[in-house]
Amino acid sequence: MPTPLLPTLTIARELPAKADVLIVGLTDAGLRDVPEPTARAFAKRYGTSVAEMAVSVGAKATAGHTRTLPAAGAGPRIVVVGIGADEPSPEDLRRAAGAGVHQAAGLAEAARLSVAVSLGGTEPEQAQAVAEGALLGTYRYTPISSVPETTGGIDTLTVVHPARGKSSDLAAEAAAVARAVLMCREWVNIPANLLYPASFADEVVRLVAGTRVSAEVLDEQALAKGGYGGLLAVGGGSSRAPRLVRLSYRPRGAKFHLALIGKGITFDTGGLNLKPAEGMYTMKCDMAGAAAILAATHAIAELGVKINVTAYGALAENMPSSTAYRPSDVLTIYGGKTVENGNSDAEGRLVLADALARSAEDHPDLVVDVATLTGACVVALGERTAGVMSNDSEVTDQVLAAAESAGEAFWALPITDEIRPKLESKVADLRSVSGDRWGGALVAAAFLREFVPENTPWAHLDIAGPAFHDGKPYGYVSPGGTGASVRTLIALAQSLAG
Ligand code: BES
Ligand code: MN
Ligand code: ZN
Repeated sequence: MPTPLLPTLTIARELPAKADVLIVGLTDAGLRDVPEPTARAFAKRYGTSVAEMAVSVGAKATAGHTRTLPAAGAGPRIVVVGIGADEPSPEDLRRAAGAGVHQAAGLAEAARLSVAVSLGGTEPEQAQAVAEGALLGTYRYTPISSVPETTGGIDTLTVVHPARGKSSDLAAEAAAVARAVLMCREWVNIPANLLYPASFADEVVRLVAGTRVSAEVLDEQALAKGGYGGLLAVGGGSSRAPRLVRLSYRPRGAKFHLALIGKGITFDTGGLNLKPAEGMYTMKCDMAGAAAILAATHAIAELGVKINVTAYGALAENMPSSTAYRPSDVLTIYGGKTVENGNSDAEGRLVLADALARSAEDHPDLVVDVATLTGACVVALGERTAGVMSNDSEVTDQVLAAAESAGEAFWALPITDEIRPKLESKVADLRSVSGDRWGGALVAAAFLREFVPENTPWAHLDIAGPAFHDGKPYGYVSPGGTGASVRTLIALAQSLAG
């Protein structure tokens, strides 16, 4: 499986001569920044301005609304995209760029296009946001087909922006971030018959080969020897054995050590507590947490962020079979704590527990885990907002600030005191689920908290809602895996590195 290809990206002050499509932005205050040569050519050819033509073909300032205008002579075709707010945030620009590029890609037919994006603004962070949104908007999952692909696409992207400072650095950073998000999407989108623990681990090893990130993979024998009872129990029902992938990045001069832990259930049937058919269909997405932390670690190294990172992808397939773990089984998690399995569909917390416990040996300054952990989190926050739970309110604030700067939606949830007693077990140190259905996202977090290295700040990101988009494309989001949390993790690492 190749790394998803990004178009070549440039941030330039002027519209390139060879652009096939130009994307411009519309707010209620009017069109933002139509490059001068295009404006002139347009007026000459049609006797009207781009703005008037946009209105006459029904362009709207509503976020994500798009209309295509005819080309003026040899000039580019113009896509008008609604930005929404008159004073757009970087995230408004990211979304508009994504929607515009998606529309532009639809014009490609069999051709390879050069697309320019001019959405106004003067700040470097605006240029970077437009670049990220545009790059993300080019992605779609390539169907697996006997018929070779003949559709065209976007080869070259130019963000037209008067960025101060080094535009090549901005472009490189946007490309590294977008590449990580798209890597995550691609891993999520590959169906679970093709991406399973061993093959996923192989892909990760290939990705980091030749970079400053080193990789180590524990197979089922190594997991048994090490006492990883969570991964072995959850993965035991599948003929495809579990893996624990460990990445480490140790740049010179780093002062802070961040441990990242990801849930990597390559398919979640629910195990013996089998999911109903409707709930199972999208469960190839249940490795999105692992995909996010592994792709983010690669990008953090590519960007040369001065922070030590150790990343653990806890990979297993949750299947029902004669070797599956049962409700009421008692498992021994890495390090010795025992857990009574209350429900084989609460598998994510068990594989995460192994990795959390293992991470103590790295002595991290902060542990962040990422997981498509609970349907309850989706009930609480909807499909587009992730939950943050933590043992330290300062860490919650740091995560929320990183998410805000990255343009991702996160919301803090508490881990309330009444929950811990509900996890008492008569046959083990702990039970994996509570006896009722209330506050399921917090219950999972309270369970994970028991395995966090002692005296270590920790945040748990439940991305069950935003990790997978089961619908039509919007903004820079494509159907399927979204890459949720990748941008936040990179921004968090950058902020912790100082
Ligand atoms: N992978 C699911 C959670 C999920 C649900 C992710 C919807 C994405 C979309 C998880 O393993 C699960 O099944 N959780 C159970 C926990 C319950 C058995 C305590 C749930 O949420 O119902
Ligand atoms: Mn489950
Ligand atoms: Zn799951």
